[in-house]
Amino acid sequence: MKPNVEEQSFNSRAVTVPEGTTHKLFPTPVTLFELGEPEMNKELAAFFADNPRFHSRDQAEQSDVTTLMEYANEVPALNRLENLFLACLTNYCREIGWQGDFDLAMQMFPNVAPKGHYVPSHNHVSHISAVYYVQTQPSDKPLLVSDESVRDYWRPDEGALILHDPRFNASLQGGWQYHAKVFPRPGVMLFFPSFLWHEVTPHQAEEPRLSVAANFTLAYRNIPAYERHQLFSC
Ligand SMILES: [Fe+2]
Repeated sequence: MKPNVEEQSFNSRAVTVPEGTTHKLFPTPVTLFELGEPEMNKELAAFFADNPRFHSRDQAEQSDVTTLMEYANEVPALNRLENLFLACLTNYCREIGWQGDFDLAMQMFPNVAPKGHYVPSHNHVSHISAVYYVQTQPSDKPLLVSDESVRDYWRPDEGALILHDPRFNASLQGGWQYHAKVFPRPGVMLFFPSFLWHEVTPHQAEEPRLSVAANFTLAYRNIPAYERHQLFSC
């Protein structure tokens, strides 16, 4: 006859071991800046409302094919927003330990999300990414929630930016699971590593959710002598 579970239990009290030392390696730095900027937000919201580009059926598919700085001459708020991105990038790089002189490639692209719109799970092709919120639905949730159980992961929260555990194939069920949710407010800027998978759940507000995303690719200027740099086509 098969023994019951109690009889099969291992006797772990037979040996003693010293306390282990746990190192929490490879953290994922996510930085929130609460900038406010009501005047800039007003100008940017008017720009999004007036430009027909942001009302076309394929505006979401086309959102990152150009940079918003194309409109900087007619929309001065975009210059201010670029400067805010760069100032926060300096702060973020200091936080994560990137120091030195770089060639910086930067793109700013719009996210215009009408009622019901969602963004599927994805990450970005760059080193560091950021998003700035211009207009969002009011929320009574905290700005960032990072202590939910896995059960809360499945709750269909409206207008949430979900940040996924970036560890490769970290299971949602196996005890390693972590996720965080951002419930954005206008004037908030969020920085995160571009490898971090994220998605945006639908919102039901009548006004569109407006945000501007930015991607940053940094190349050290002091190229080591052993590296040959050349143009390459394939
Ligand atoms: Fe994204």
